[in-house]
Amino acid sequence: MGLELTGRARYLPLFMCGIVAYIGKKEAQPLLLDGLRRLEYRGYDSSGLAILNGSLHVSKKVGRISNLEECLSGAPLSGTIGISHTRWATHGEPNDTNAHPHLDNRKKLALVHNGVVENYQALKRKLVAAGHTFESETDTEILAHLVGSMYDSLPASTPHRLETALKLALKQVQGTYGVAVVHADEPDVLVGARRGSPLVLGIGQDEHFLASDVSAIVAHTQKVVYLKDFDLITLTGNSFTIKSITDKPSEFQISEVDYRTEDAELGSFPHFMLKEIFEQPTSIQNAVRGRLNAEEASAVLGGLNMSPQELREVERIVITACGTALHAGIVGEHIIESLAHIPVEIDFASEFRYRNCPMDRRTLVIVVSQSGETADTLGALREARRRGYRVLGICNNVGSTIARETDGGVYMHAGPEIGVAATKSFTSQVTIFALLGLLLGRMRFLSFTQGSEFIKGLEALPDQITKLLKQADKIRAIADKYKSVKSMLYFGRNVQYGVAMEGALKMKEISYIHAEGYPAAELKHGVIAMIDHHTPSIFIVPNDSLRNKNISTMQEVKARKGPIIAIATEGDEDVAAIADDTIFVPAAHECLLPILAVVPLQLFSYYTAVLLNRDVDKPRNLAKSVTVE
Ligand code: G6P
Repeated sequence: MGLELTGRARYLPLFMCGIVAYIGKKEAQPLLLDGLRRLEYRGYDSSGLAILNGSLHVSKKVGRISNLEECLSGAPLSGTIGISHTRWATHGEPNDTNAHPHLDNRKKLALVHNGVVENYQALKRKLVAAGHTFESETDTEILAHLVGSMYDSLPASTPHRLETALKLALKQVQGTYGVAVVHADEPDVLVGARRGSPLVLGIGQDEHFLASDVSAIVAHTQKVVYLKDFDLITLTGNSFTIKSITDKPSEFQISEVDYRTEDAELGSFPHFMLKEIFEQPTSIQNAVRGRLNAEEASAVLGGLNMSPQELREVERIVITACGTALHAGIVGEHIIESLAHIPVEIDFASEFRYRNCPMDRRTLVIVVSQSGETADTLGALREARRRGYRVLGICNNVGSTIARETDGGVYMHAGPEIGVAATKSFTSQVTIFALLGLLLGRMRFLSFTQGSEFIKGLEALPDQITKLLKQADKIRAIADKYKSVKSMLYFGRNVQYGVAMEGALKMKEISYIHAEGYPAAELKHGVIAMIDHHTPSIFIVPNDSLRNKNISTMQEVKARKGPIIAIATEGDEDVAAIADDTIFVPAAHECLLPILAVVPLQLFSYYTAVLLNRDVDKPRNLAKSVTVE
């Protein structure tokens, strides 16, 4: 999939996209559209579907899935086998023609694709020389033609002809793919494959589904198989086979999904982002549940798959992730260093994989990813494992690629996060770092009393957040006051630095207001030039060890007429006296404060975006899960 760029520059297009496919006894169209709606967070530039009913019937529309629904409402496509797709692109015009599915040269085969065919130009040249003509600018159409021409070149008597054609075609492809394919001459078969882009099989009663993630299919079945890279799957209504493109035997496991569809519904909330912010008392409870051991004043994290001896031997930790997960890692770095005195390094996953980061055998790598599918994070994980290091994962999506490929880890159990801007996943990730810090700390320097106090702090978090959320109206009023500014600066120190980064990211992502996060004392090293009476500074200044130093930095801003919004500990009137607006958070252990301090910042960006009429859950140019490099 992707646009072929002519001219001098060739950019690799970045695509996330969502796939849903169905084969069974029911009408496919409503099932596909429902699945696409649930996957819309993966991409929302255009969508389309193909239904097989004697011949292929295709409908594609630029824009949201509602456009496709509207287009089909007058003339629904009937048939019990079909494939569908929602697309997201950063390069090139999304339009009806470039939308998926794409057809082969004979218009008999339809294919949907998530990923990037990197050698599409070479493949296209061969196909053009063989007389193929193309309608779109996408690499996916080239893939459709390639599979179609393989199919045509095989004798009609070839067993599993469509599956064989897909396998032969994919052997020629460099790049990444999750694909689903149907062919008019094979009315009872649907085939698919994956490499680098997630694909999950849903097993129903006389029906099967293929989808980019379980949210698209859990309303119909909870029995799933998470496909692995190079898996090649063939489905009929009542059977499935999983082979490998590499000709090696492929093993699979049927899992039961623990997922309630109502968790992925809006309920009474206007946006998923707001719903997910308000879910944080529960998601934090879920992250902590069953993981505290009061008797030993420690944490229990069985999924790490490490013996106490191995945990004691860890001498260095490298945390790597992207976006919000990286910010949780920045907070995690401070928590682990502070509680366990283990040196921690944090790195962008996209940098880590190409950097020669020196590590020794006592280094533990931790990757953090809500989706468990982020390509950069997966690349870093694979590079670390290739070098022989133990890698742990902190993931939300059970069965995701990162969760499967790590040596062990901790699930967040936060429930589905649909809003593109991550909220509850951040607080769950930080909570898990707190548990890890407690566990490692209790094996080293943390006393029983300190451990017990920390546990009390963790247990208090859900109620403290519930209380904090009651300030939503006040935060909305503050957002209204500042919504027209062009730029905002976020400041926090030590463990709050990650919160400043995350607050700024939330503001950028959904309101499109420029925002930057800094360690507060960096103000005087350049950033101070930005301060004027139109540029608010958001200070995270709880009553911690650096409060007084933060207050001095606030004074420097005030002296230059910069407006200040402070996130301060309840009752801190000194801070409130300097700031123009103050949001109070409850007192807590220094390492747990980020979990509280980030909540008002999430609400602040949410209300700013709402007041600016932004598309909060589907901000421009973003996708929830970036599954290509
Ligand atoms: C994308 C999303 C971000 C997210 C990042 C990492 O860039 O837009 O919101 O934080 O990916 O996602 P992950 O699923 O790995 O946590």
